[in-house]
Amino acid sequence: MTDVPRTRVALITGASSGIGAALATELAGAGHTVVLSARGVDRLEATAARIRGCGGRALVVPCDVADRGAVEDLVSRVLAEAGRLDVVVANAGAYSRKAATQLGRVDFESAFAVNFFGAVHLVEAALPHLQRQRSGHLVLMTSFDAKKAMPHDGAYAAAKAALATFGATLRQDLRGSGVHVCTVFPGRVDTPMIDDLDVPAISAKIRPERVARAVVRAIRRRRPEVVVPWHCGLLAWADMVSPRLGDWFVRVLDLDGRLRSP
Ligand SMILES: NC(=O)c1ccc[n+]([C@@H]2O[C@H](COP(=O)([O-])OP(=O)(O)OC[C@H]3O[C@@H](n4cnc5c(N)ncnc54)[C@H](OP(=O)(O)O)[C@@H]3O)[C@@H](O)[C@H]2O)c1
Repeated sequence: MTDVPRTRVALITGASSGIGAALATELAGAGHTVVLSARGVDRLEATAARIRGCGGRALVVPCDVADRGAVEDLVSRVLAEAGRLDVVVANAGAYSRKAATQLGRVDFESAFAVNFFGAVHLVEAALPHLQRQRSGHLVLMTSFDAKKAMPHDGAYAAAKAALATFGATLRQDLRGSGVHVCTVFPGRVDTPMIDDLDVPAISAKIRPERVARAVVRAIRRRRPEVVVPWHCGLLAWADMVSPRLGDWFVRVLDLDGRLRSP
């Protein structure tokens, strides 16, 4: 990395694609220096080049979030080279789809390794710094699946629900610390992650830029949670009133979608 001016610094994992790339672009547009992380360098460099092309400041630091030591090194590098850290977004994730009756331990282990422990590693590494400076934002990218799990999403939804619960306790434990925690629950988003999934019009895929704008607004307003698109919240509400009613909506509206045949 080269010398970086001392503007606010945002670190985004999973920033080479989809929501992470859109969020990095949005945060860069809002004046942050963005540190882009993911495993694959080429797509990270391409995202960084697009951001720089629009006048933003972007740095690339590859990292596999499933590797705790690598995430510690990532945060240390950001602090050493960018000089500060203000926004930390645990966004890296991986989707898997299998009926709950077919799931085995290995499915849960791989879903949790990235979607849950990947985020926990980042929080562990970055939080002491944010607590010391008594400011900053921790953004946890979960999924609407954590509010109302869809059929076939068992392992993924369990990992995202665990992350959402961790976010809810973290937010309360950090009350008064100056560190803001925001948990994000996107519905279906048009990214490579679910390219091969057809969904009904009522839960049409939204653009990743819409999620990015919602997250930046939530950071500004220090919101605890974001559900995007907002109407997903209606299903969560119905499910809270009656899980049977929630299941009925999912079934009748075919909300879990269909994998396109190869
Ligand atoms: N798309 C949706 O409908 C949807 C809905 C709700 C929530 N989400 C969540 O939103 C987040 C972003 O997803 P997306 O839809 O933008 O997916 P995406 O376009 O597939 O992007 C996933 C990103 O995560 C990175 N990544 C995957 N495994 C990683 C690992 N072990 N270490 C570091 N980076 C890793 C990928 O880059 P590399 O492969 O190069 O590492 C990529 O940058 C995920 O947490 C996802 O679960 C998505």
